[in-house]
Amino acid sequence: MFAKTEISSLGKPDLYRELTARISAVIEGETDPVANMANCAALIFHALPDVNWAGFYLLKGGELVLGPFQGQPACVRIAFGRGVVGTAAEKRTTIRVPDVDKFPGHIACDSASKSEIVVALLGADSHLLGVLDVDSPELDRFDAEDEAGLREIGKIISARL
Ligand code: SME
Repeated sequence: MFAKTEISSLGKPDLYRELTARISAVIEGETDPVANMANCAALIFHALPDVNWAGFYLLKGGELVLGPFQGQPACVRIAFGRGVVGTAAEKRTTIRVPDVDKFPGHIACDSASKSEIVVALLGADSHLLGVLDVDSPELDRFDAEDEAGLREIGKIISARL
């Protein structure tokens, strides 16, 4: 549907503007959460340069369970409060990790991952739905512009979960 080269070469403000527009367009009118997360993960993975994993962990029975993603197969269950995923979920916030080897308790699903950003996804009444996780094989890949863009994407997809 969308070619990777179409937007991955844009500067970050334009890239995230276009990416959020495409995500909004593909999930508009669709109520199935798995379909929406799957398309969202694919759009992020193919749009953002230097990304080796993009996907979701969902809060189920008190732990974070792997949802739709793009990239190498990943850890299926992550305890609340563990790793970057479980910590972002517990704190209900966004965590940017410039060097995963320096994050105590980081869970290495793909040894290629060097930096990571995890955005907590909150429902309308602020309850935790899960997280959006994006990994990079580059150190310090994610800056404040990435954080702002991915938080905005997190808000858009949260409304459809
Ligand atoms: N690195 C994460 C685990 C998930 S993978 O990156 C897909 C963590 O430490 O929680």
